[in-house]
Amino acid sequence: MTTPHQDIPALRAGLADQLAAELPSRTWPEVFRVVDRHVFAPRFALFDPVTGSFTHYDVHDPDPVRRAEAMAAAYSNDTLITRFDDDGNPISSSTEPSMMASMLAALDLRPGHRVLEVGTGTGYNAALLARFVGDEQVTTIDVDGELINTARAALDVTGYAPTVVCGDGAAGVPERAPFDRIMATCGVDRVPGAWLDQLTADGAILVTVSTGIALLRRAPDGAVHGRFLGAAGFMPLRSHGYQPRWSGRRVLEETGGSADDTRSVTVPKGLELSTAAFFTSLIAEHGRLVFLGEDEQVVSYRWVHPASGSWVRVDLGEHPATVHQAGSRRLWDEVEPVLETWDVAGRPEIDRYGLTVTTDGRHVLWLDSPEHHITAL
Ligand SMILES: C[S@@+](CC[C@H](N)C(=O)[O-])C[C@H]1O[C@@H](n2cnc3c(N)ncnc32)[C@H](O)[C@@H]1O
Repeated sequence: MTTPHQDIPALRAGLADQLAAELPSRTWPEVFRVVDRHVFAPRFALFDPVTGSFTHYDVHDPDPVRRAEAMAAAYSNDTLITRFDDDGNPISSSTEPSMMASMLAALDLRPGHRVLEVGTGTGYNAALLARFVGDEQVTTIDVDGELINTARAALDVTGYAPTVVCGDGAAGVPERAPFDRIMATCGVDRVPGAWLDQLTADGAILVTVSTGIALLRRAPDGAVHGRFLGAAGFMPLRSHGYQPRWSGRRVLEETGGSADDTRSVTVPKGLELSTAAFFTSLIAEHGRLVFLGEDEQVVSYRWVHPASGSWVRVDLGEHPATVHQAGSRRLWDEVEPVLETWDVAGRPEIDRYGLTVTTDGRHVLWLDSPEHHITAL
C-alpha cells in the first residue's frame, strides 16, 4: 500500500479555513483542523450532478498524480461516497463537511454531554464528536457490519475510542443510555420511539425527517418539539420494514394505471418539487415523489406510497389540474389541506415549520409554534 505523502496538516487546515469562512461556528472548524479525514475514507467516489456519474478515488493509488488528486478530494467540502448497494445506489458516505459542521454546531453539544450518533458510516463524525466531548461520552451505531469494522480500524489509527456498536440504530443503544444528544446521520420519516426513551429530560435529537433537518428538544411533558433548520438529503435509515427506494421508472409505471378517483383540483401555482417532497414524505412514510417536466415546467406529479399500494397522478397540463388516485389511502386528499395552508400562509420556507413527537409516537407538523397544528402525521 502506498502511503499518501502530502502535507496532511495543510490539507486539514485548508478544509478548516474554508469551514471557518463559511460558518458562524468558531469551535467546529477547529475540531476539523485536527482530525484526519482520509483515514476514514481512503477509497471513495464523488458524484458529478452534471454528468450524473461517479468518479472513483483512492488515497493509496500507486500513481502519484492520482494519489494527490484523491487526497485533495478527501479534504474537499464534498460528500465522499464510500459504499454502494448491488444496484449501484450509494448507501454510505462521509457527508459534506460544511453540512457536518452545521449539524454539529446545531447540536449544541457541551462538555460532559453523552451523545449517540446513529449512522457511524466511515467513523469520521464519531471521531470529531470524540475529539470534542471525549471518547467516554460518545456512542455510535451502524447497521452495516463491514462499515463498522472499517470505522473501528480508522478510529484506532487516528487514536479515538468512542463506543462503536453494530446494530439497528432505530432501537438506540439502551445499555449506553441516557443520552443528552442523539444525532442521526441517516434520514427518517418517523422518529423512533426508542430515541425518546433514551433521551435525558433536557436532551435534544438532531435528525433529518423527510427532507428537513429538525432539532427536537425535550419538553416537560416528555414530548420533543423543534423547528426544521433547513433542507437536507440523507441516506435513509435502513431498518425494520425498510425497502429500497423505488426507481423513477417504477413510479411512472405504477401511476400510469387506471385510477379509482379522478377529479379536478387546484394545485398552488409553481409548487416546487422540494416543497412537495417535504410534505409528501412527511405524510406518507417511505413514499416516493417524481415529476415530469416540459420546458422547466412541472406538468405532472407522480407520488407512490408502496406500503399501502396507493398512488396519485396530478396532471397540471390543463386548468384546473386533474388528480387521479388509487389505493387504500387517498394521498391527494391528505396533502391538499397542507398545501392550501402553505399557500395561504405566504408559502413559508421549511424553517418556519416544526415537528412535535409525543412519547406515544404521535407526530404533528406545525407552523411557527407548536400550538399552530398543520396536520397529524
Ligand atoms: C451518511 S452515512 C453516515 C456518515 C457518517 N456519520 C460518517 O461520518 O461517515 C449514513 C449511515 O447510516 C447507516 N444506517 C442506515 N440505516 C441504519 C440503521 N438502521 N442503524 C444504524 N445505521 C444505519 C448507513 O449504513 C450509513 O453508514
